[in-house]
Amino acid sequence: MALTMTPVRPEDSARLAQLCASCHGPHGHSDSPMYPRLDGQTPEYLRTQLKAFREHGRGETDARTHMWGVASRLDDAAIQALAAYYARQTATPGAAGAPELMDKGRAIFEKGVPDSGVPACASCHGAQAQGAGAFPRLAGQHQAYLLRQIEVFRNRSRGNSPVMSAVAHDLSYDDARAVAAYLQSR
Ligand code: HEC
Ligand code: HEC
Repeated sequence: MALTMTPVRPEDSARLAQLCASCHGPHGHSDSPMYPRLDGQTPEYLRTQLKAFREHGRGETDARTHMWGVASRLDDAAIQALAAYYARQTATPGAAGAPELMDKGRAIFEKGVPDSGVPACASCHGAQAQGAGAFPRLAGQHQAYLLRQIEVFRNRSRGNSPVMSAVAHDLSYDDARAVAAYLQSR
């Protein structure tokens, strides 16, 4: 049964979000690194991901297990409302790690790893990792979730993202760990 929500009112989106809160937390602020934070994410990216779960274009194991079922219940209006709802929540920085790790992560984020052909993440994800349009916000996201995504881009199980598959392929594990730790703290 599709959840039809036309016309969508702000109070409907808060009610719809209760379907998601058991995993993604209140207002999309999840505490568990198993579940990505959704607060402050760009609405375009949220819409694209929800449609990709619904249409099975995003297929890593955790997506299949946790997101395919719930996304199959969302029609386009519900997706629109949920994306707008999470985009307007205020994101806050997560915990920081050791200073050397933060410095290393910041350098990768801002300048890339020229010797390995890794581009600066900031050039797409924004100077503050705040995201823009189709480029997701990474700031404040759980380190462990970010690392899992780099892995599923690398092994291409997430779906068709040539840009991120190439980035993930060239990023060493230590560099991925540093940049993910830095991003969590932003
Ligand atoms: C049973 C737990 C569960 C429920 C309920 C759930 N999700 Fe998820 N969701 C997950 C997991 C786990 C992932 C991460 C998948 C991965 O690691 O590959 C995820 C990923 C996502 C992503 C991708 C985030 C990103 O940064 O790429 C979005 C968007 C999302 N969920 C939205 C929702 C919405 C909206 C709802 C409610 C309609 C919802 N989820 C309900 C577990 C859940
Ligand atoms: C040329 C542009 C570009 C560059 C450079 C880039 N990204 Fe991305 N990134 C994207 C796009 C586009 C997506 C969304 C892919 C999708 O829709 O599946 C993405 C998605 C991601 C995700 C998944 C986020 C989520 O919420 O699931 C992570 C993690 C990520 N990028 C990390 C990085 C890191 C770390 C770097 C730098 C080492 C980087 N990206 C460099 C374009 C880029």
